[in-house]
Amino acid sequence: MGGRIQLDRSPDEFGVARRRKHRDARTGDGCDVKAVIYYESGGSDVLRYQDVADPEPGPADVIVRVAACAVNRLDVIQRCGWFQLAGFRYPHIAGMDIAGEIVALGDAVAGHHVGERVVIDPNLAAVSARSKLAERRWMPGELGVIGANEHGGYAELVLIPESQLHRVPDEMPFAHAAAFPTCFMTAGHALLDVGTLQRGETILIHAAGSGLSTAAIEIAKHEGAIILATAGTNEKCARATQIGAHHVLNNRSGDVAVWAREVTDGRGVDIVFDHVGAALFAQSIDSLAIGGRLITCGNTSGGAATIPSLAKLFHRRLTIQGAGVYQPGAFRRLWAWFCAEAIGVVIDSEFALGDAGAAQERMLRADHFGKILLVP
Ligand SMILES: NC(=O)c1ccc[n+]([C@@H]2O[C@H](COP(=O)([O-])OP(=O)(O)OC[C@H]3O[C@@H](n4cnc5c(N)ncnc54)[C@H](OP(=O)(O)O)[C@@H]3O)[C@@H](O)[C@H]2O)c1
Repeated sequence: MGGRIQLDRSPDEFGVARRRKHRDARTGDGCDVKAVIYYESGGSDVLRYQDVADPEPGPADVIVRVAACAVNRLDVIQRCGWFQLAGFRYPHIAGMDIAGEIVALGDAVAGHHVGERVVIDPNLAAVSARSKLAERRWMPGELGVIGANEHGGYAELVLIPESQLHRVPDEMPFAHAAAFPTCFMTAGHALLDVGTLQRGETILIHAAGSGLSTAAIEIAKHEGAIILATAGTNEKCARATQIGAHHVLNNRSGDVAVWAREVTDGRGVDIVFDHVGAALFAQSIDSLAIGGRLITCGNTSGGAATIPSLAKLFHRRLTIQGAGVYQPGAFRRLWAWFCAEAIGVVIDSEFALGDAGAAQERMLRADHFGKILLVP
């Protein structure tokens, strides 16, 4: 994957060359529809903030006015062209984590109404055949993901199949809801489904200020785990303590495995939650207690890693397990838990939609602590 991909649909098919007026279903007012779209990979200057056609819903779709959309690492990776999900096509509108309000309904949509506050499950594994997004002929095993290989929430309006809608409680700000989908679903799947984190266990969480790890800290805190967190700066370590980490270490200057043993009385940790990949992989394995498990769900610093000692791996009965995409149906369960338990989120910053490039650059520099949001 990656590299240049030919434009296989005309601009007009996407409506990006036309400027039309969207008519608000509630107010009847006309309004321009803006989106951040790109036609080729490259630096943040390939992102164009421009008028696009208002999306027309299929029978089982709704149109959502985006109130907040989180920036994710994959948005940046795909824009740079380092990796693109199967089914990715140019031009592309990124944005997997969308919260907003329904402004129009397809003919067959039942159980939802204009004005409803919703958050979107981007995983299209169970999309209805009556949705426009079901028209895409997915390759076998290819997963549709809103904002990754379908147009997403870097826009004022977005087409969403009704199967992806989940109600946002009245008292919950849209920014809070938009921080949920990718990071909480990925961290929740890794910690709870795959890692089977138990109350009182010790968990080591790297890159404490990242989107995934701020979510992981919130989940681990709620589950009653002892949290060891590492980050690349002392400032991020201090923030990690503020949001609930019990022990922190700067992973650029400290020895992770030595420290993890020190703060666990020589035992090591039960779980490592890792998406940093190569840079901390060996230290993570050396930090594990007997029977410990390393759950990996990302490879930001590189995808090729070395197991420092196979003898330690088998003698200490260690497990290295991947946690990929969550199962269909899991979103509903975790979202209900998130709302009922009033789980916290960490918001780093909010950018205007037209400043999406600056928002992505902030993520690339790793200046953030928590989620970066676009607010159209
Ligand atoms: N499996 C899935 O379904 C799934 C879902 C979402 C994301 N992911 C992947 O998970 C990873 C994290 O995503 P995210 O959204 O949380 O990203 P993010 O917010 O951009 O965080 C990435 C963090 O990695 C740390 N980092 C980078 N290089 C490092 C190095 N050499 N050593 C130590 N730490 C380093 C940085 O933290 P410091 O400043 O503290 O060093 C940075 O903040 C990405 O690779 C993403 O593609 C996978």
